[in-house]
Parts: sequence; C-alpha cells; structure tokens
Amino acid sequence: MAQYDVIIIGSGPGGYVCAIRCAQLGLKTAVVEGRETLGGTCLNIGCIPSKALLHATEALREAETTFPKMGLKGKTPSVDWPQMQAYKQDTIDQNTKGIEFLFKKNKIDWLKGWGSIPEAGRVKVGEETHDVKHIVIASGSDVAPVPGAAIEVDGKIVVDSEGALSLPKIPRSMVVVGGGVIGLELGSVYSRLGTEVTVIEFLDGITPGQDAEVAKTFQRILSRQGLKFITGAAVSEVETKNGKAEIAYKLRKDDSAHDIKVDVVLVATGRKPHTAGLGLDALGMSMTNRGQIAVDDGYKTSVEGIYAIGDVIEGPMLAHKAEDEGMALAEILAGQAGHVNYGVIPGVIYTHPEVANVGLTEEQLKEQGRAYKVGKFSFMGNGRAKANFNADGFVKLLADKETDRILGCHVIGPMAGDLIHEVCVAMEFGAASEDLARTCHAHPTYSEAMREAALACGDGPIHA
Ligand code: NAI
Repeated sequence: MAQYDVIIIGSGPGGYVCAIRCAQLGLKTAVVEGRETLGGTCLNIGCIPSKALLHATEALREAETTFPKMGLKGKTPSVDWPQMQAYKQDTIDQNTKGIEFLFKKNKIDWLKGWGSIPEAGRVKVGEETHDVKHIVIASGSDVAPVPGAAIEVDGKIVVDSEGALSLPKIPRSMVVVGGGVIGLELGSVYSRLGTEVTVIEFLDGITPGQDAEVAKTFQRILSRQGLKFITGAAVSEVETKNGKAEIAYKLRKDDSAHDIKVDVVLVATGRKPHTAGLGLDALGMSMTNRGQIAVDDGYKTSVEGIYAIGDVIEGPMLAHKAEDEGMALAEILAGQAGHVNYGVIPGVIYTHPEVANVGLTEEQLKEQGRAYKVGKFSFMGNGRAKANFNADGFVKLLADKETDRILGCHVIGPMAGDLIHEVCVAMEFGAASEDLARTCHAHPTYSEAMREAALACGDGPIHA
C-alpha cells in the first residue's frame, strides 16, 4: 500500500495550499521542499519580502512628501538599511513559520530535500523513495535569462529579483532591464530610497498586456516620482568593470547604439518554469513549446498519476493563480469537482499608486470585435482620495453594450489591489455594471470610485 495519497513537490503558494486542502479533505499528504523554509519563491524571495520593502519605502515617501502638507513637521526619517533588511527578514520568518505551523496542524509531512520522480507512483527525496498514489508538481519558476543578450547575473553588480531584495547597500544608480511587474516594484523601492533608477524596456511602453490607458498613466506617474524610462530599447550586453556596470543597448526605432554606466543592474525580463532535476525527460512527460508541463483541464500531465499546477504550467505566473489551482486539484483528487475560473484572476502591481486589473482589456475587446461600454471615474472626484493626497489615477469598468454584464476592470489608484476584488466577486456572479452601481458604498471610501465607474456605464457618475 502507498505511504501517501498525495506527495506535492514544492511548498510555494501552489504546493502548500494544495497540501492543506488535500489534508482537510482526508488525504494523507506530504510536501517535498529542499529550501530551509517553506513558502517557495513567494514567501522567501518574492511577493512577501518585496511588499515589506515597498511598505517601508512608501512610508518614507509619505513622510517626505505629504507629512509637511498635513502639518506634521520635524525631522524626516533617515534610512537604516540593515534595520529595514531585518524588518523584511522578520516578515519572511513570520510567514514561513506560519506555513510550518499549518503543516503540523493539518498533519502534513515535510519531506526535506529536493525531490525527483523515478517513476509514476514514486518520489525520491535524498536517499529515500516514497510510494504514493498521486504526485503533484508545484515546483514554481526561475528567473529567465535576457533573450538575445550577454548578461551574466553575478549577484553583486548584476542582480535578479532575489539579489535586489538584499543588496548590501543602497546603490547610487541602477538600471532595471524590463519594465514589467518586478522591475517597476523594485525600481520604485530603490527610487524612493534615493537611487537614480533607469528602466530600459524592449517594447514601446511599460507593463505589456495591461490596459493601454492605465499603462500610459502609470508611466507618467512613475516618471513624476523620479524613475527614468528608455522604451523601445533592446539591451545587448552588460559588462562589469571596477565595481560598476556598463549597459549597452540599441534603440529599436533607428538601431542607434547607446550605453549607460551604473552601480547596479536589475535583470527583470521574466521567469521560466522550474522543472530541472525532476526527471521529467526520463518519464517522457509532454511539455509545451514554452517549456511548461502540458496538462489537461484537471491538471493531469501526460504521465498517469502525475499532476502539475502553478508556474510550471500555462497561465499567468501569479501566486494566487497557483493557490486556486492547488485547491481545485485537491478537490479533484478527493473525488470532488475542482474548478478555476481563469476569466476572473486579478493582477496587481504594488507600486504607489497601485495598479490592478481583472477580466478583459479594452484592446482585447476591440480585437474580439465586441460591442462594449466604458465607465471611467477619476480619483480626483473621490473625497477620501483628495484628503489623503491619493487622487492620482482612475477606475475603468468595461461592460457588454447589450447585456451590461461586466467584462473587465482596470484601476490605477490608491488601494487598487484591494478595490479590484468587488469587481472579481461581481464577475463571478455574472453581475451587470448596474448591479455595482446600485450597491450602496460607504462614504467616504476609495471604493466609491468603483461605484462611480459603474454609474458611468449607465446614467453617469455623480461626482464628475
Ligand atoms: P514581466 O513579464 O512582468 O516583464 C518583463 C518585461 O521585460 C516585459 O515588459 C518585457 O517586454 C521586457 N523585456 C524582455 N526582454 C527585454 C530586453 N532584452 N530588454 C528590455 N526589456 C525586455 O516579468 P517580470 O517583471 O520579470 O516578472 C516575472 C513574473 O513574476 C511575471 O509573470 C509577473 O507577473 C510575476 N510577478 C508578479 C508580481 C505581482 O503580481 N505583483 C510581482 C512580481 C512578479
């Protein structure tokens, strides 16, 4: 008889959530994790530590910019970098220990070490091999190399997102290669700490895939905050000399060559599925042409008894997408009907202001030739936002022209990452924009801007 019903490889948000739900549903469960602490990239070197640094530096920005305006005079805080790093580490520790506690509470075994799959039904960890009914691969992703460029991450002068979270000192200047989520979040952190940050982005605008109007406003606001942008530029080489980096890039419009010298380079041009060492080749597992594990609707791989979720399969590389897949798969393995609605997965960029989205963009609707209406509302018309110096940005709600059903929402503004969820819930219930518009929202809250955007899809907003 198998020792376990389920063994999950990887304890990131996909793996640990899947494990907890499996255990709750009565399956004997173990998780393989080779890192010293549970929680994967997200808790150890991703979402959680970056949010600690974003929170601390945003507090600094407020103290510098809005405190005097509110009559809070006195010494602006100075930065104690080792203490900020200690606060970040404490945040990580609390979260990773929290997962360890949840594993104990749910009687989930932590098989410490790096796992591989010698054959279906068996997982090898170190010298030990465990028999199991179902194997779940939740091994996450790694930093992808910059396409077509000679860039070696040395962890000191040229860093990836992990290195950028723990720089020994605050650099005077930094180039961020890639104007995506990681580049802009960590670029914001260092910009607020006084680093001169230049973002070099291959495309003509930042955050590809984002609603174009939001992306444009976002770039304008970040530029005002001091970040510099070089767009439509391909980085070809990074050379390190005498403790500095020289970045060579070409502008795509005229192929002209340029270079720039800085203290630190952050490479943030995307991530790739992490499947090395699992033994997938020997198992003959089918992969997509983008190096992801191919799965069916129930997360089944091409090898019987082996499943995959999260960053190793298709879809956005987001912790919450992996979590939802983890829960759905646990339900499937327990004989229930697990399901993820991929049409309602929010995305958030935790800068200031925040950027959040769910559903389709206006560009996608145009591409589909769909008749739609737009309800827009600026935070300038929101009393709370004005009082808090947070009036930059807007809410844009997209609804079907005929049925009024909500199709998407794009927000740039204060607490956008939290505000977006009322639209997520509305979309899950197949709501119309009128449903949101007729829902009483407390005054004064930022959420009134969401309702005003919904009102703008109908007879019009009140405060615009
Ligand atoms: P990304 O895919 O968000 O952005 C990469 C950017 O680099 C793109 O704008 C791309 O056009 C640009 N690029 C590619 N090659 C380039 C080159 N040679 N020169 C200049 N620019 C180039 O990738 P990122 O920021 O590394 O994030 C990786 C993953 O992690 C993403 O899937 C992201 O969603 C996820 N993530 C999510 C977070 C969140 O939800 N808040 C936070 C951090 C990461």
